[in-house]
Amino acid sequence: MRLLKTVVFAAFALAASGAFAQTIKIGFITSYSGLNGNLGPYMERAVRLYIKQHEKELPPGVKIELLTRDDTGPNPDKARQLAQELVVRDKVDLLAGVIFTPNAMAIAPIATEAKVPFVIMNAGTAVITTRSPYIARTSFTLWQSSYPLGQWASRKYKTAYTLVSDFGPGHDSEDAFTKAFGEGGGRILGSVRVPLQNPDWAAYMQRVKDARPDCLMVFIPAGKTATAVMKNFGDLGLDKAGIKLIGPGDITTDEELPNMGDIALGVTTMFHYSAAAERPANRAFVAAWKKEYGTNETPNFLSAGSWDGTAMIFEAIKAQKGKLDPEKTMEIFKRYKNADSPRGPISIDPETRDIVQNEYLREVRKVGGQLANVELETFPSVKDPWKELQKKK
Ligand code: PHB
Repeated sequence: MRLLKTVVFAAFALAASGAFAQTIKIGFITSYSGLNGNLGPYMERAVRLYIKQHEKELPPGVKIELLTRDDTGPNPDKARQLAQELVVRDKVDLLAGVIFTPNAMAIAPIATEAKVPFVIMNAGTAVITTRSPYIARTSFTLWQSSYPLGQWASRKYKTAYTLVSDFGPGHDSEDAFTKAFGEGGGRILGSVRVPLQNPDWAAYMQRVKDARPDCLMVFIPAGKTATAVMKNFGDLGLDKAGIKLIGPGDITTDEELPNMGDIALGVTTMFHYSAAAERPANRAFVAAWKKEYGTNETPNFLSAGSWDGTAMIFEAIKAQKGKLDPEKTMEIFKRYKNADSPRGPISIDPETRDIVQNEYLREVRKVGGQLANVELETFPSVKDPWKELQKKK
């Protein structure tokens, strides 16, 4: 009896000291090489910064382990293999990350089969969340930005040309913009889908210039591709021909603005996140980022999606006192709300597990001598319009 008491006491003491620490493993897949290979760290840094700032809020003894993996860009086979290994061998509690739609689509069936909640922190094709009940998305959809963009553009311009990367989010951006622009009375003069990697920009830009639209709507997968678009738009003289460049905010991604030069001035975009936003929560986020990673570093929309995704994961861990049950985790994700995210108020739509957020009409301007996406107008609480349209069908 004495021995039993001693053992029980020792067990309590160990538990209290955290020796029975519970480790939550997050399998984090993003791109550290290949197309957009420079963007993976914008996601990982946001996750790590959130963990650093908030880890003291975790239940006693609970730790988070981030297992980072490189999917090497748009590469669904690699993404599938990494997710499989993380689930089977590393026994992760959650999957997260992912820049590219094809990779997210490849991971979806693994999340379903293994019952591992999968937090999408970037990939933006509308259909993704329908591919597994274990997916919740804290980033955006292309419909969310391109549909209100089309509505706004139809009030300002008579004719448009669309140019998009030929894969899921590009098709969504084209469809959403075309629908809204047409509904508003605008006319599309031409639509072109270009290869995801190394398209012949000069040839495409010349074609657009020859069509003489009032505006050119572009979607490309952010990163260095955005700067290539901007350069070719200027080099081929589309600005001088009086054509306005517009698009979802992927085309003026915050971290590339310093590389774009003055050709980006006046470019109008619709998006959910700008590093230049004046909201106190964003100012605090940007200040914390600069303190952690250097004064010349700026978070971008991939950082915002990853920051909020980590906050949502924290809520699930705290509510379950560190013992994650996949069904309960998904229920918590579905109810997730934050009135004060760096991008403004956000919530997860329980029906679709997709994010509801403001879209901001922005223009590239100089602020303190630096190019910035200045928010001009707010389209509040936008639900993914593609899913809203599906419901009506
Ligand atoms: C995607 O593949 O879903 C994607 C990639 C880059 C972006 C937006 C969406 O900027």
